[in-house]
This record gives sequence, structure tokens and C-alpha cells, in this order.
Amino acid sequence: MHIPVMLNEVIDSLNIKPDGIYVDLTLGRAGHAEAILKNIVNGKLIAFDKDKIAIEESRGRLVEVNNHFQLIHSDFKNFKDELAKLGIKKVDGIIADLGVSSPQLENKDRGFSYNKDGYLDMRMNQDQSLKAWDIVNNWSEEDIVNIFINNADVKMPKRIANAIIKNRPINSTLELVETIKSCLPAKIIRQKNPAKTVFQAIRVAVNNELESLECILKDSIDLLNPNGVLAIITFHSIEDRIVKNFFGDLIKSKHDPKIPIQEEKKFFVKVLYPKEEEILTNKRARSAKLRILHKI
Ligand SMILES: C[S@@+](CC[C@H](N)C(=O)[O-])C[C@H]1O[C@@H](n2cnc3c(N)ncnc32)[C@H](O)[C@@H]1O
Repeated sequence: MHIPVMLNEVIDSLNIKPDGIYVDLTLGRAGHAEAILKNIVNGKLIAFDKDKIAIEESRGRLVEVNNHFQLIHSDFKNFKDELAKLGIKKVDGIIADLGVSSPQLENKDRGFSYNKDGYLDMRMNQDQSLKAWDIVNNWSEEDIVNIFINNADVKMPKRIANAIIKNRPINSTLELVETIKSCLPAKIIRQKNPAKTVFQAIRVAVNNELESLECILKDSIDLLNPNGVLAIITFHSIEDRIVKNFFGDLIKSKHDPKIPIQEEKKFFVKVLYPKEEEILTNKRARSAKLRILHKI
């Protein structure tokens, strides 16, 4: 089961108009989508997911609410083009709840979890050819080190990449966990499971997560109506930094601070954190940050 993270905060920040057009870029199991749809009367919700199972499983849940929705099986980086195909040029709110859903993590055959033994897959989109197995078994040591550094802040990246190369072939998630642990000092392993960041780095590479995120930021600004809201939930520092810097650049003054000009504000931004009660009932919320951009 997937419990939507910061649901009340997302719905409050979107300030949904009954006749508005809203986009959920990360449908998952429709937790946020269902709550948005409940507030829509004459408007429309368009929701995206590149995981076919997410689309299939969510449809039944949303039909129970009303039929003002459309589901699109696609990477969200294409969302502007997909909306254009539907004749939609402007929207009132966009939500992206990044990363993987609980059903993806819990299904050992998807290969996302470092606690369950499964094939090294990690694809969100089952039609894609690149799998985690290809990275682990075919990529060069240098390329593996690069994704460790760029996608997840992996400690001792060279040592782990070298152990991976030496232990090839590595076929399963737990074989990969063993390889990681075998090359690190006991002290490091005791501090925090080192597989967490390695799995994150590989998953982000398999699914091209950072590039897709960068695409939606710019396109969202073009698509939002005045008073429109972009809400993004991030779960790790690398994706969060991309959103934070993008929002920061938008609100930064473009004028020389020495020249006294009254600047018209075009956006305001804020960041919200999950409440203690939510973290206690939903472990996934622990590392969440909700970044909100309001187009004035
Ligand atoms: C954290 S879950 C979303 C959960 C959802 N908000 C809910 O309440 O059920 C993220 C979902 O987004 C999908 N996803 C992640 N990146 C994507 C991308 N670039 N394009 C399309 N879907 C993506 C994943 O497949 C996953 O189903």
C-alpha cells in the first residue's frame, strides 16, 4: 500500500478551483490524484506515470470519484507535448511526488529494494531496455563512479565501483549488497547501510531521473496560469537541490542592488516539511520536502 506523503499540505497549496485544470506528474497509486479529483467539478485532472502498473491500478480508484480525469503512460518529461495533444496550453496546478512508490519498492521482482532479493531491474518503465543489471555488469568503472557521485553522494565511490567490477557477474540485489559491504570498513557499514545510496545512484541512472526533473521545471513555468501552483515533493538532497536552485533563480532579483528599482514580483516560493505525526505513521515521509512555487 502507498500512503501519499504530505497530502493535506499538497491539497492546501494547490488551492484547487472546481473548474481548473490540474496535472499529477507522478500518479503512483493515485493518493494525491484522488484527493485532487474530489475537488474538481467541471475541470480536469491529467495524470502521468511511466509505470504501466501504476496506470492500471489507479484507474479503478479514480473512476470511483468521477470521470474528469485522463491517465497518460509516459515519462513526465514529455508532459508539455502530451498536454498540447489534448489541446491544453495552460494549467492551474502541477504536482510531482518524486521517486518510487511503495508497491514498486515492495515488489522484489522490480529490483528497487536493497532488503529483498530480486533481479537487478529498477526500471520504472517496463518498456525500457536499460536495466540496473546493465549498469552493474557492463558499465566502465569510471561511469559507475560518476553516477555514484552525481546521483547519490555515495561514500567511497571508487572502492565500491572497483569491487563491483571485480565481482562481475552480479545478478541479484542481495549479491550487489554483499559486494558493497565486502569492500567497506566495518565502521562505515555500522553507521548506515551503504547500499542505500548505491541503490539510489543506480536507480536514478536507470530512470534518467535528474534529466526528467530538469525538463518539467522549465515547462511548468510556461504552462502555469497566473495564480497557478507547482508543488514538488523531493526525497533526497540531489533532486532537492535542483528544485531549490531553479526556484531560487526565478525569484532572484535581476537588477543591480545599487539601483533603487521597485521590482514586480512574479513568483513566490516556500518549503514545507512533514509533521512529526506523519513521520511516525509513514516512514517514507521522513526525508520529504515539499517545495511550492506560486505564479503571481
Ligand atoms: C512516489 S510515487 C507517487 C505516489 C503518488 N503521489 C501517490 O500518492 O500514490 C512516484 C511515481 O512516479 C512515477 N515516476 C517517477 N518518475 C517518473 C517520470 N520521469 N515520468 C513518469 N512517471 C514517473 C513512478 O513510477 C511512481 O509510480
